[in-house]
Amino acid sequence: MPKDNSGIQKINGNFKGKDIVSLDQFSSKDIDIVLKVTKKMKTIAVNAKPSRILAGNIVTLIFYEPSSRTFGSFAAAVKQLGGQTIEIQDPQHFSSVSKGETLEDTMRVFEAYSDAIVIRHPVKGTAEAAANAAFFVPIVNAGDGIGEHPTQALLDLATIFEKHKRLNNLTGVMAGDLLNGRTIHSLIRALALYKGTTLYLLSPKELKLTREDYNNFTSRGIKLIEIENETQLPKNADFWYWTRVQKERFSSLEEYEKVKNKFIVTPELMKTYAGKNTILMHPLPRVGEILPEIDNDPRAMYLRSEVRNGMYVRMALLALILGKV
Ligand code: NCD
Repeated sequence: MPKDNSGIQKINGNFKGKDIVSLDQFSSKDIDIVLKVTKKMKTIAVNAKPSRILAGNIVTLIFYEPSSRTFGSFAAAVKQLGGQTIEIQDPQHFSSVSKGETLEDTMRVFEAYSDAIVIRHPVKGTAEAAANAAFFVPIVNAGDGIGEHPTQALLDLATIFEKHKRLNNLTGVMAGDLLNGRTIHSLIRALALYKGTTLYLLSPKELKLTREDYNNFTSRGIKLIEIENETQLPKNADFWYWTRVQKERFSSLEEYEKVKNKFIVTPELMKTYAGKNTILMHPLPRVGEILPEIDNDPRAMYLRSEVRNGMYVRMALLALILGKV
């Protein structure tokens, strides 16, 4: 049966068959569902309990942009649940895309072979275009240019919830490339679903949110405080979310060099502004903006639970959209 393709739909408590393109589709109740299922998935993965939840299902992973964690964790998620994958990295070289095939045709082909398609693409809006092109199977946005990265936001929420046991009334710091960082764009949308949160946005002025995004997010009720200097950081925030300057989005290396690594997490910075319950997150890859000396600090989540939560959350999301839980 063709799926309902009347545009990107709200989840509204029902994930089955839905495309996952933007955090705008979610309510806080929908996120509760994801987090609840994520907990079950963690038990399956941690106990190496053979699961057949996705037995008989094939998921296509087609990544037009480089990826380590998102690609790897989606592949692992499918396999953890007994499903199988078609894995295409760099379709510009290794598929008919190199012969000029359109995105629309590529989606129509791979939906014939699989039950869901996970796509990453350098151009904002492509996940939505892919969702509109696929008649039968759900599309999951694994990052569309500077647009969004919804599954990353869900795993970031899982990480915050694990530590603080709540998603409202948080004080957070988001730092780095707020203009081009798609993980930032999804995570702010996610946090704006809850009351009482204040985010300090630390970036060079060239890398602030667009005014359109800033106004859009604040109109949802979340408090955003833009700062350009580390001395304006709040003390004892609940989390810090550091990001890399997105080199591939700059028109020249020179422009990138001007703004890269303005803000670096050092032991001194942590000592001055972080508290004992401040968790430090980063979607990775980091390219110098968190010093390796921090890695063994128990508050550093980026190479530990944040990475693992990525697999659990993606297991949950796939099981939900494929109607298996
Ligand atoms: C992020 C991305 O691809 O947007 N990586 C990831 O998926 N964890 C962040 C980044 O590349 O900076």
